[in-house]
Amino acid sequence: MKNISDLVVKGKTVLIRVDFNVPLDEQGNITDDIRIRGVLPTINYALDEHAKVIIISHLGRPDGQRQEKYSLAPVAKRLSRLLEKEVKLAPDCIGPEVEAMVGQMAFGDVLLLENLRFHEEEKKNDPEFCRQLAKLADVYINDAFAVAHRAHASVVGVVEFFQECAAGFLLQKEMDYFHRSVSNPSRPLVAIVGGAKVSSKLGALRNMIDRVDKMIIGGAMANTFLKAQGYEVGTSRVEDDLLETANELVAKALKQGVKLYLPVDCIIADRFDSKAANKITTAQEVPKSWMILDIGPASTLLFGEALEDAGTIIWNGPMGAFEMDAFSRGTMAMVQKLAASQALTIVGGGDTDVAVHRAGESNNISYISTGGGAFLMLMEGKVLPGVAALENK
Ligand code: 3PG
Repeated sequence: MKNISDLVVKGKTVLIRVDFNVPLDEQGNITDDIRIRGVLPTINYALDEHAKVIIISHLGRPDGQRQEKYSLAPVAKRLSRLLEKEVKLAPDCIGPEVEAMVGQMAFGDVLLLENLRFHEEEKKNDPEFCRQLAKLADVYINDAFAVAHRAHASVVGVVEFFQECAAGFLLQKEMDYFHRSVSNPSRPLVAIVGGAKVSSKLGALRNMIDRVDKMIIGGAMANTFLKAQGYEVGTSRVEDDLLETANELVAKALKQGVKLYLPVDCIIADRFDSKAANKITTAQEVPKSWMILDIGPASTLLFGEALEDAGTIIWNGPMGAFEMDAFSRGTMAMVQKLAASQALTIVGGGDTDVAVHRAGESNNISYISTGGGAFLMLMEGKVLPGVAALENK
């Protein structure tokens, strides 16, 4: 896959697909701008080369309708502040008005186009919509790792309509880190998989078991594994239809010599509430009317020991209901273990990076991915459509 520095962008109009799908609060303020900061190197590179820079992105899921709450206006403001230069926001992403604004750009200007998903054609990968986007620029750069798992017009279809296409520095970096950690890792390679559901991580679990030396399972998904092994899990969240699958995964790990770690103790509560009564118990002694909401201190210790000799650690998904303080200790403790580790540490998936930021340890993790679904798709061993489009070009 070529990257932007392999192309000549000097004196050209460059269309850069980014993922500015950032979280907003109720007043429309951006609460985390990592995805904006992540693409600054690519934008700055194009500006240093005196290109005209057109930026395209989606925000949220407006279902093909123009909806003001999904406007990229707050992003234009933040980007302008970060670049320390004016960033105009076009009222749409295609059409005569946008073309006129592009026509008026000078080299070194930045124009952000309005939310791609205001057009249903974006999600449909519609060729005419791709053509409309492509006629705005000479060169296409994809720096939108977090949406590279979607076969949408601005990610996949548009590539066909450009002579010159390449990845931006963020997309390149995300792919490099992931491949370094999975294809040719410094061993032992340890995967930590958490989060609510086995079903949403099944592909990742299956693929990673073939690659890792150790696998640590936490979060509510561990309940399904514990129940499958015959433990009482009370009123905990469980996927009963996946009990057999869980046992198959355990058997596969055993057969392949993968060391599989499940929680040995947990924090339980009498209901799913931050004010619920809670206590520590062993995994063997969860009362029928209580639910597991976090891993316990003995599990933290055990998982920490398993990480001691790691060469590479990949982590996706929290260890418990960490949005509630009472059930955040397990996840926070794991953040500390990764932060203190000498291993190459890669963290991906929305919730996990929130935990790392909240613990103030972002600088002590080797790489925090900007992707949620895209990162998971890589863990599943699949090729991202956005990356395939660039590679096939
Ligand atoms: C994300 O936040 O994971 C990406 O922006 C993709 O968003 P989507 O799940 O709405 O396609």
